[in-house]
Amino acid sequence: MTAESTDTLTREPAQQSAATEAGARTGALLPPLTLGPITVQTPVVLAPMAGITNTAFRRLCRDYGGGLFVNEMVTARALVERRPESLRIIKHEPDEVPRSVQLYSVDPVTTGHAVRMLVDEGRADHIDMNFGCPVPKVTRKGGGSALPWKTRLFESIVATAVREASKANIPVTVKMRKGIDADHLTYIEAGRIARDSGVAAVALHGRTARQHYSGQADWSAIAALRESLPDIPVLGNGDIWSAEDAVAMVEQTGVDGVVVGRGCQGRPWLFGDLQAAFEGREERHRPDLPMVSATLLRHAQMLIPYFDGDERKAMQDIRKHVAWYFKGYAVGSQLRTQLVAVESMAQLEDLLGQLDQTLSYPGADAEGPRGRAGSPKKVHLPQDWLESQELNEVQREMIQAAEVDTSGG
Ligand SMILES: Cc1cc2nc3c(=O)[nH]c(=O)nc-3n(C[C@H](O)[C@H](O)[C@H](O)COP(=O)(O)O)c2cc1C
Repeated sequence: MTAESTDTLTREPAQQSAATEAGARTGALLPPLTLGPITVQTPVVLAPMAGITNTAFRRLCRDYGGGLFVNEMVTARALVERRPESLRIIKHEPDEVPRSVQLYSVDPVTTGHAVRMLVDEGRADHIDMNFGCPVPKVTRKGGGSALPWKTRLFESIVATAVREASKANIPVTVKMRKGIDADHLTYIEAGRIARDSGVAAVALHGRTARQHYSGQADWSAIAALRESLPDIPVLGNGDIWSAEDAVAMVEQTGVDGVVVGRGCQGRPWLFGDLQAAFEGREERHRPDLPMVSATLLRHAQMLIPYFDGDERKAMQDIRKHVAWYFKGYAVGSQLRTQLVAVESMAQLEDLLGQLDQTLSYPGADAEGPRGRAGSPKKVHLPQDWLESQELNEVQREMIQAAEVDTSGG
């Protein structure tokens, strides 16, 4: 049985067919998204998610609908040092076009080296820069969402990336949060700087670093950014759990496209729904349990080659997806417990085989928020970071030595 066989949706095959591309525009919600030489027919972006958006998960999402599918963030320094894990992260499948890589960097020199490496070795068609990560390991070093506060440093990193990437006509985009906290908002100014530095688009997650993943994303900030940058595409991010949410964000903010993260965890078919909605069609996926379990199995199978044949690593990885896939389905606590401790493909197949194959789509219980949430968190920053928007001498030295091998959000 394939993942598609029990899906209640009649839909076109994977990817956007030429017919869809040509025909769909009439009722389309938005025109295609243009990023330099790249045209994204369905203006939907799979948000980079560390530990999630690897080749296996991107493949599943791509099979359901069109869009731009960004990998997990890779640390510029680790990439330049050719650490095996970083080279794994930037892998793409041969049919993955465009190849989208997200870079995390805190200093312009390493940024330049990393972008040059990607360009010279022909490893990317699109580069996204991460200025949204709120995790202490990153912000403590002035990186991620802490960085746009230092406007000149931010400008220098973005301009360097654009300069190096433009040598191969590769578009650079920036992904950021609203700011550090409500008193230190950075997004309007950072958007302007990024635009003036030549980025192809800016994406905004409507939360501050302090909010982490708590509360609700502020779509009015996304609308404000859209309005302040009339001349480049602005993409909105935060709390899109369904195709209807994506349409609502477009309507409420005027964005040129949406970026979807947690909403597709355990639901790669959301990309099919998003494509349908952006083309003005009503079809939505309502997967029954056999379809969900077939998709999870396929996900696990594809993780094995991603981890170079290491089945144990693939099983460790798939465990975190179990709760997302089965959200709302009456799987039973015993099976759930066994599934999140699965050790081998054989065991996974056996456990999935024990599921009640007659369970249909549970409705609202399978929808809605999933993944990280929680409460606001203290933002860990370098000493005296907020005192000035320029780096002081100590901070400058720290930045030069700072890049850590890290994973974020
Ligand atoms: C597990 C996880 C990992 C993430 N990793 C990254 C990352 O590597 N780079 C990045 O820019 N954002 C990262 N994010 C943030 C998402 O890209 C996105 O901005 C955020 O989840 C809000 O969008 P959503 O409400 O659609 O999930 C991560 C989020 C999660 C939940």
